[in-house]
Amino acid sequence: MSSERSGQEIELRVGDDVLKVRSGEMLIDICEHHQTCIMFSCRAASCGTCAIVVEQGMENLSPMDGLEAIVVEEVSEGRPNVRLACQVQILGSAYVRPLS
Ligand code: FES
Repeated sequence: MSSERSGQEIELRVGDDVLKVRSGEMLIDICEHHQTCIMFSCRAASCGTCAIVVEQGMENLSPMDGLEAIVVEEVSEGRPNVRLACQVQILGSAYVRPLS
């Protein structure tokens, strides 16, 4: 569980980019705003394009729901710590990178 509060400035690393963001933001919105390396398409846990690996800070991401879990199961091919950027709310510091 995160001890950081919503709206607090946190450090988010996306690939090689180190960003200062506000906790509570959706990862996909951060990626779009900062034009990071993470690609996306549907924004609805459908296409799997936005799959990421969480290298650090899994505990600082919003919980995974059932729809996301189904898509992650399909795209991760058994690799651990995979999430969908379009379904993740950033609640504290983390380091993520594209799955592929
Ligand atoms: S953008 Fe399609 S699953 Fe996230």
